[in-house]
Amino acid sequence: MDNLEFLSRQKCLLQQMLPNSVCVVSAASLVTRSRDTEFPFRQDSYFQYLCGFPEPDAWLVLSNHQEYSNNMSVLFCLDKDPTMEIWHGRRCGPKQAKHTYPINMAFAVDELDERLLDLVDGHQNLYFAQGHNPEADELIFAILQALRDAPKQSKQAPSSLIDSRIILDEMRLIKSPYEVEMMRTAATIATQAHVRAMQFAAADKNEYHLEAEIHHEFAMQGAKYPAYSTIVGAGDNACILHYTENNQQLKNGDLVLIDAGCEWQGYAADITRTFPVSGQFSTSQKQLYELVLKAQLAAFEQIKPNNTLKQASDVVIAVITQGLIELNILKGELAENIQHQTYREFYMHGLSHWLGLDVHDVGNYKVDQLDRPLKPGMVLTVEPGIYIAPDAEVDKQWRGLGIRIEDNLLITTNGYENLTSAAPKTINDIEALMQKKSD
Ligand code: GLY
Ligand code: MN
Ligand code: MN
Repeated sequence: MDNLEFLSRQKCLLQQMLPNSVCVVSAASLVTRSRDTEFPFRQDSYFQYLCGFPEPDAWLVLSNHQEYSNNMSVLFCLDKDPTMEIWHGRRCGPKQAKHTYPINMAFAVDELDERLLDLVDGHQNLYFAQGHNPEADELIFAILQALRDAPKQSKQAPSSLIDSRIILDEMRLIKSPYEVEMMRTAATIATQAHVRAMQFAAADKNEYHLEAEIHHEFAMQGAKYPAYSTIVGAGDNACILHYTENNQQLKNGDLVLIDAGCEWQGYAADITRTFPVSGQFSTSQKQLYELVLKAQLAAFEQIKPNNTLKQASDVVIAVITQGLIELNILKGELAENIQHQTYREFYMHGLSHWLGLDVHDVGNYKVDQLDRPLKPGMVLTVEPGIYIAPDAEVDKQWRGLGIRIEDNLLITTNGYENLTSAAPKTINDIEALMQKKSD
């Protein structure tokens, strides 16, 4: 990736920090999976956002002190080590990092404690994501204490500690053209994976076979990792919102809900599609599916600059509640049902979340306690669903049905662009695609 993108993000952060401030950002560390094996490494999103250095246990220090012409960046990273590299993989090392990554200086992380003390010394404010990484908390507090304890050596500790996320989250909420391109690619690959899973589904398959098809498509298109644990829920497993066991046999007559998205250059896609194992929706499945789709399309109409997610969410609640009354799943009047939130038995999650480097991306949903108006460059999901528990006190035709439809929308100057529209979602399109596979 072009370092200019990272440099412009660093500059944007430095310009928004108070004068004479330093910001410290820590990379992620490896996480143990069992005994001496680790989960695949995933870089910390803030660290990734600011410099793109891909290794664990690194640190980035940014300063806007006049002494450094208001813009200085230092990376600390694991040093070259032939033995460690034979066992655990290549390291860039500080010498090479200085040439490859958007930083002014680089040192071995072994020098961090000593050098960080000098780097922080003399700044008025320290920007830092307190509580984000316990190891970083410990180090920062130790440095602050050491500076406070050494006034006789003319050391000066920053007088205020400011949460760096206040600036960074706002920056990350509005995607740059480069980020939109990354998210477009993630979305495109993920739509193709959903198509592949729909084409592969059949009654003799297991949920994990569909998971494997999805991940295969991701990898074959260059997206090595899913952005979150893939959900493949057949039958009433679809009613478990974060179901990830994915180990049950598919049955004709059942729906299967897949919530899956890949990560591309760190950016997430987050798509849900629900389709019949047999390729043909039953009448009850069709009725409920059409209702979720109607709710989603009604939400789309609200997605434009200056509207709020609350407006879209309210519309979805009204459409779903009215539809559930018409299907005799809820009883009584619309207004009364909405007031008592009776729909929450069947639609119990939110409509939307921001999407970006994190699947539930950063950014406040309220500003000054008011719902935040949408702005061009935001990317969000729209994901209504209806889930009827197997033991719900409703007509048995509905029991055990779980349906969610989730797309990823980019806010544009006059509305939105659906980045994931290529994954079929009308009943006709799904049935036609699934029919094709058996022809
Ligand atoms: N896949 C997580 C979500 O839809 O929020
Ligand atoms: Mn989502
Ligand atoms: Mn999802």
